[in-house]
Amino acid sequence: MYDLERLHIVHYPDPRLREQCKPVTQFDDGLAALAMRMLQLMHEARGVGLAAPQVGILQRIFVMNHTGEPEDDRVVVNPVLHNPHGAAESTEGCLSIPGVSVKVRRAERILLTGQDLRGQPVEVPTEDLQARVCQHETDHLNGILIVDRMGPTDRIATRKTLRVLENTYRGKARR
Ligand code: NI
Repeated sequence: MYDLERLHIVHYPDPRLREQCKPVTQFDDGLAALAMRMLQLMHEARGVGLAAPQVGILQRIFVMNHTGEPEDDRVVVNPVLHNPHGAAESTEGCLSIPGVSVKVRRAERILLTGQDLRGQPVEVPTEDLQARVCQHETDHLNGILIVDRMGPTDRIATRKTLRVLENTYRGKARR
């Protein structure tokens, strides 16, 4: 088990961000507590989404809030994306890659299905920013980061920042 209080957002190139996460099978109080803690960390960092591997938990769950309004907090367990429509390019950041924002091409509309914290099926038609967040967070559950989806211009522009993050991570790992 993990200590919820000690959970924090891990940064690139932490190898946990590269894992394929496992489906959630236990819909218990522990899962609900994890989701609440993730929402808290997401809001503290002023993010619009946070996936479990970003706090070092390799399970298929993410939280999101694309408006910032408390009633738009949402937890999605075992998400699946269906019926992508359209394509749009927009700038994305990631709480696990501070200082990096890159253009990413995503579907404009997509249907999100999955489960809620009690294991009940949920179905959310999404568009624009919410669709983008769902795709970004689902990528996280498959070990995919925005740096994998950026174009050649951003690849050059972000090289230094990524190297600094890599050196910082190595320095921490050595201690
Ligand atoms: Ni991210």
